[in-house]
Amino acid sequence: RHHILSLEDFTPEEYNTVLQTAASFREVLTRRTKKVPTLQGQVVTNLFFESSTRTRSSFELAAKRLSADTLNFTASTSSLTKGETILDTAKTYLAMGTDMMVIRHREAGVPQAIASEMDRLNVRVGVLNAGDGQHEHPSQALLDLFTICTLLDPDRPRLELLQGKKIAIVGDILHSRVARSNIWSLTASGAEVHLAAPPTLLPQMFGEFVDTRSEERGARSEGDRGNHNQPSTVNCQPNRKLFLHWQIEPALQDADFVMTLRLQRERMAQHLLPSIREYHQLFGITRDRLQLCKPDVKVLHPGPVNRGVEISSDLMDDPQFSLISQQVTSGVAVRMALLYLMGGGKV
Ligand code: CP
Repeated sequence: RHHILSLEDFTPEEYNTVLQTAASFREVLTRRTKKVPTLQGQVVTNLFFESSTRTRSSFELAAKRLSADTLNFTASTSSLTKGETILDTAKTYLAMGTDMMVIRHREAGVPQAIASEMDRLNVRVGVLNAGDGQHEHPSQALLDLFTICTLLDPDRPRLELLQGKKIAIVGDILHSRVARSNIWSLTASGAEVHLAAPPTLLPQMFGEFVDTRSEERGARSEGDRGNHNQPSTVNCQPNRKLFLHWQIEPALQDADFVMTLRLQRERMAQHLLPSIREYHQLFGITRDRLQLCKPDVKVLHPGPVNRGVEISSDLMDDPQFSLISQQVTSGVAVRMALLYLMGGGKV
């Protein structure tokens, strides 16, 4: 795969290739030198048109661990402010010898547009989507998958380990590119994925993910979603199980993993902004709420976290439950794997 723009058409083999390669790089990162010469002489350019802490820094570190040269673009201090277009910006970095571009933008579709332009120019530059608007954040979902799978089998993380597991994704799903990518990867694994959000932060998912709606297990028509106690059951592709809830409790019941999401206030229309206190009361992940889950439940959050809003502050820091630090650590190994594989590396 030349570009990584979405997980929609990722195959189980591709997921397992990423997991296996990331496991090798995780081992490299435990060594004293922590560096391999794999991408020596190659240039990885981070084109971040939107702010980032984790994704940008871990892509930079991943590229450096692979011995690539790195360039970092920041929109606010670039010639974008003088009217240069996004495509001309990308072509400028191409002219400097960029081999791979890691792109984040507040609008969905920008990484795809740059990838298309690179293909049109017939240059072998790989484009990696580091988060585009509300569309997708593939590397985040892959590091989430790696974090969960390495917990289940540290030596051989693989997609099949999630078969039959229950995973709740809670919070601002409507605006979340992380949720969108995770839905593709987690449902591909055979896990049951339960989405829970207030009605204003959930409904637009239907149009994009629903192919058929099962009549089993309490499924109802879209016009009949007044009874919040019954889940809507959705098969987004054959054999993929996605359940939608307007209340948190049925999603958490017997869950193996809970993924909580930030309220993305910067993407919300004013009338959608919930009261923070009410939101935490109804959808915040707390110790009390975790009692509904399996006893060994683990909590994930892609970050950045609004402490005390989507998750209680003490729970976020509790290593018995929280995988948040492991997610950040996984990010470096997974992003090394993605750059390595895009650069033509073999498993
Ligand atoms: N999870 C994530 O994308 O974090 P950043 O915005 O800090 O990169």
